[in-house]
Amino acid sequence: MNELKPARILAIETSCDETACAVLENGRELLSSIVASQMDIHARYGGVFPEVASRQHVLSIIPVVEQTLDQSNLTLKDIDAIAVTRGPGLAGSLVVGMNMAKGLALGTNLPMIGVNHLEGHIYSSWIYNAGEAAPPEPQFPLMALLVSGGHTELNLMTDHLTYQRLGATLDYAAGEAFDKVARLLGLPYPGGPSVQRAAETGNPTRFKFPRAKLDNPYDFSFSGLKTAVLYEVNRLKKESSTLPVEDLAASFQATVVDILFKKTIQAARDHDAKEILVAGGVSANRPLRQAFQSQEEFKVHIPPFSLCTDNAAMIAAAGYYRYSFGHVSELDIDVQPTWPLS
Ligand code: KG4
Ligand code: ZN
Repeated sequence: MNELKPARILAIETSCDETACAVLENGRELLSSIVASQMDIHARYGGVFPEVASRQHVLSIIPVVEQTLDQSNLTLKDIDAIAVTRGPGLAGSLVVGMNMAKGLALGTNLPMIGVNHLEGHIYSSWIYNAGEAAPPEPQFPLMALLVSGGHTELNLMTDHLTYQRLGATLDYAAGEAFDKVARLLGLPYPGGPSVQRAAETGNPTRFKFPRAKLDNPYDFSFSGLKTAVLYEVNRLKKESSTLPVEDLAASFQATVVDILFKKTIQAARDHDAKEILVAGGVSANRPLRQAFQSQEEFKVHIPPFSLCTDNAAMIAAAGYYRYSFGHVSELDIDVQPTWPLS
């Protein structure tokens, strides 16, 4: 950490339905962060409507950047580099943030860094709020479970920006499974928090849902689980007009949490990881957090709730390490809607 140069990064994130900007110092200290959510707009459609998302980003991006600078009491003169999410994400959404970042970089003559959104999620565990004591940094080798709306994968990090992908989902991501099951149960968008809320009063052992047996123990598959919930819903609907939504949600959630938890612990043991890191929107799930927090074998890093779902602070953190290691982008880079982490 000592050899890294001090730098203040302004970052922009527009990969999906959140228009976000943040200023972060030295990769860890968060000076300001604004997230303009479009959740209410997309809730009407039961999911993110891509064209609407990109138009909304166009409307929000300049005020969001201005508010972020205001909140930090800084101007662009105080910034050392601009980081921006290059992918993965919705092309039309990514383009808005990318063009804003290019405009800022051109206008200020600052370097620009195109950041992988998944790397951003991982680096959210390095962040703490300005004025607070710096918590210990995650230590390598680190087993990173990435669980977002589009991705579920296990990566071994042996150093900064170094990922060995051990396994990933063969079909749905964990977040996608939450979203699909929410729809099946008639719960509102976004699905993850709705399922969690319904599950609070449900019985997690009432329904025994199947777990996929896979050749690679670090891979995931959630499509069979979703189909099992669908069959159960259809069977129950024939029996009664009221669905035991809470028990179905709790049993589904308990199955997902158990799969994610056990595979991550096994992968950490098998690869002699020192610590575990959990990142991405699903890391906001309380039972998942509790599962990791209630074991003592590994120290586990899970970001605070505000940094679990999409935000720009995490893009600034990953951007800082990329910048520090000399990974500055040209201003003619394009967005990469399907950009793997490794
Ligand atoms: O990381 P994220 O905000 O966006 C992507 O990069 O995809 O993740 C969004 C996903 C959604 O599928 C959402 O349902 C899920 O994270 N999620 C949750 C919770 N909060 C968000 N899933 C389970 N429990 C939650 N509390
Ligand atoms: Zn995300």
